[in-house]
Amino acid sequence: MHSLLFSLLFTSLSLLHPSTALPPHRPPPSIATNSLSSSIHAPPVPHPTVFFEVTKPTPPPSTTTTTAPCSHHLLSHDFAHTYSQPPVTALYSPPSHCPFTRYSSVVLEFTSTCKGRQFDRIFGVWLNGVELLRSCSAEPTREGIFWKVRKDITKYYSLLLQSNQTIAIYLGNVVDKTYTGVYHVNLTFHYYPIENHGGKNHRKLGNLYENFADLILPISRNLPLNDGLWFEVENSSDVESKSVSIPRNAYRAVLEVYVSFHENDEFWYTNLPNDYLVANNMSNQQPGNGAFREVLVSLDGELVGSVWPFTVIFTGGINPLVWRPISAIGSFNLPSYDIEITPFLGKLLDGKPHDISFSVTNSLNVWYIDANLHLWLDNKVEVVKGQLLENNVESLTLWTKSHFKGLNGKFYAGASRSIMSKGWVESSKGYMTTISIQKFDFENYNVLRNDGSLQTVNQTIDLNTTVLTKLYKGFACPFYKTESLKKFGLFVYTNQVDEGNNSYSLLSNVTLGLNEDKIFATESVVSSSMLRNRQRGEGTMVVKNNLVSSGLGSTHQVYDYNENKGGFCYFRNVSSHNYTIVFDQVTDKCKVNTLLSNVFSFD
Ligand SMILES: *[C@@H]1O[C@H](CO)[C@@H](O)[C@H](O)[C@H]1NC(C)=O
Ligand SMILES: *[C@@H]1O[C@H](CO)[C@@H](O)[C@H](O)[C@H]1NC(C)=O
Ligand SMILES: *[C@@H]1O[C@H](CO)[C@@H](O)[C@H](O)[C@H]1NC(C)=O
Ligand SMILES: *[C@@H]1O[C@H](CO)[C@@H](O)[C@H](O)[C@H]1NC(C)=O
Ligand SMILES: *[C@@H]1O[C@H](CO)[C@@H](O)[C@H](O)[C@H]1NC(C)=O
Ligand SMILES: *[C@@H]1O[C@H](CO)[C@@H](O)[C@H](O)[C@H]1NC(C)=O
Ligand SMILES: *[C@@H]1O[C@H](CO)[C@@H](O)[C@H](O)[C@H]1NC(C)=O
Ligand SMILES: *[C@@H]1O[C@H](CO)[C@@H](O)[C@H](O)[C@H]1NC(C)=O
Ligand SMILES: *[C@@H]1O[C@H](CO)[C@@H](O)[C@H](O)[C@H]1NC(C)=O
Ligand SMILES: *[C@@H]1O[C@H](CO)[C@@H](O)[C@H](O)[C@H]1NC(C)=O
Repeated sequence: MHSLLFSLLFTSLSLLHPSTALPPHRPPPSIATNSLSSSIHAPPVPHPTVFFEVTKPTPPPSTTTTTAPCSHHLLSHDFAHTYSQPPVTALYSPPSHCPFTRYSSVVLEFTSTCKGRQFDRIFGVWLNGVELLRSCSAEPTREGIFWKVRKDITKYYSLLLQSNQTIAIYLGNVVDKTYTGVYHVNLTFHYYPIENHGGKNHRKLGNLYENFADLILPISRNLPLNDGLWFEVENSSDVESKSVSIPRNAYRAVLEVYVSFHENDEFWYTNLPNDYLVANNMSNQQPGNGAFREVLVSLDGELVGSVWPFTVIFTGGINPLVWRPISAIGSFNLPSYDIEITPFLGKLLDGKPHDISFSVTNSLNVWYIDANLHLWLDNKVEVVKGQLLENNVESLTLWTKSHFKGLNGKFYAGASRSIMSKGWVESSKGYMTTISIQKFDFENYNVLRNDGSLQTVNQTIDLNTTVLTKLYKGFACPFYKTESLKKFGLFVYTNQVDEGNNSYSLLSNVTLGLNEDKIFATESVVSSSMLRNRQRGEGTMVVKNNLVSSGLGSTHQVYDYNENKGGFCYFRNVSSHNYTIVFDQVTDKCKVNTLLSNVFSFD
């Protein structure tokens, strides 16, 4: 982090009032800057501007029932001076005013308005310490904005049925003479009824994998707290952990991990190797440690899984004008990552406390991490038996290559790893073996030209997560297989020119791609889904005294989702320019052959 473009997200109050003195030589690279806010006007109409992230409707229209959902308003709050304050809380109980008490799905809806100037603020929503949503606020305009996040939270069903719990939102905001935006927020849950015909009853699908967990334990920090409930990982040796005891009748366990990266690691994928920074005397000004990061999850100190995260760009990232009104992929609803830890149940079922811990390879300050432990319980026995048979952690392979002369250079980082575990559990359902496999591949090319003021980064992450379960009971031997293949693509081009007088101009292109293919199979049923989600943005801006004083952004996104080979589809092709939607094609009719396989290709 250098002195001109200081960290704007979650910095201490004093850092929000930086010195305006220009360093004698503006250090490259241009994009290793933190989020910005803008002082330019949005178009006068419509009021307010509606910002959105492109995603499929929740719940999908194909499962929507004819009966209207029952809505439960949980809290309203004006987030003004909330930084380093306790989270805003309210008491939660399932709604008592609904004509039904069982639900086909539950949707969390977060809405907010804001007017003025403000940074992108990370926030989280927790129910009894279990994280339901990790999100980033939209940056307001002087004329005012509105945005809405809808998230299907049906997988937290067992938790949602419990009374007298604390719902908490932490959104650390700071309001002063310059940064005037107050976030006016409502949080509402919508409960959809189970219909006798038509509506899908998730609870009745009756196999090990599609039912939701019976118990969800928070692996987060406890209230009271003047912060978010996430753990903060500040450097590569920082290990954050929580001790947890689980019921002895659990027969399946999945750890759902939430991560977000900020300040010196907000743009970790653009960070340069330390030898380059040292050679250019920039170690104190620029975040380093190269461009590879890996979130490690351990149980009692033993690695059980890893997260190689999607490169979410927050609403003030690179060029804030690119994300208005179409926000970056994942920015309003950050992905969470599931790690199947059923093979390790043998260790956890002794009724004693065990440590679940998080660390981040190469990390700089700061990563926000927590997790939810989803547990499936056997109500016919008191104790399930189990044993870990194999935990085969292939050590990380990381290749790096750098070639630089002065401020110009080419840097490559490639990494791969696989983690395989196998174990058995014996419950009233039978003797069950589970194999969990995670495979990761990573490539990052980073090129600096024009004395470091022109940077291009091209990165891909490939993930293959497979879980195979076999149940031995009598002669039957059913199996369950889930396979998830993800590809995360990123291309960033930035060209920065010093305009003198405390200002610079920046031209940037950004491409983000998120592909996911999922297959769930038993010997009788196969279901699948495919997502191709690609976004390309371009922007120009002039930044003066840390504020965007003029500029222009445009974005094009193609979102293509197909579930069960045409069972449910959602397609959107939308483009914006200078705050205005240029075209917007939406359909839930399945298209033939529209799916593109490359995370970078568009038309
Ligand atoms: C962008 O929109 C604003 C507000 O409508 C307008 O004043 C400005 O001229 C537009 N810029 C360009 C380059 O179209
Ligand atoms: C929040 O709810 C109140 C009361 O229903 C409503 O007046 C206000 O417009 C809502 N604000 C947002 C941002 O949804
Ligand atoms: C919830 O709290 C209220 C008020 O303290 C109490 O009357 C009620 O019995 C509690 N409900 C449950 C399920 O604990
Ligand atoms: C890493 O962060 C932890 C937690 O803040 C701190 O205790 C430790 O001193 C730091 N280590 C280094 C090498 O900076
Ligand atoms: C870095 O600093 C050292 C000592 O101050 C100086 O000798 C060297 O020339 C500087 N290198 C660059 C690239 O500025
Ligand atoms: C990024 O790298 C991928 C894989 O090598 C390549 O297909 C793609 O064209 C590159 N993208 C850009 C914009 O250079
Ligand atoms: C994903 O990994 C599983 C388990 O190793 C393997 O069987 C499968 O072929 C892999 N899929 C792809 C597309 O590589
Ligand atoms: C530099 O900025 C100051 C204050 O914003 C302004 O008054 C002055 O005209 C600017 N000078 C140039 C050459 O742009
Ligand atoms: C950036 O986008 C512009 C406009 O689409 C295009 O002309 C230019 O070639 C792009 N530059 C790079 C390096 O991708
Ligand atoms: C998206 O819409 C534009 C403008 O109508 C069109 O040129 C393009 O082919 C469409 N892309 C896809 C993938 O349908």
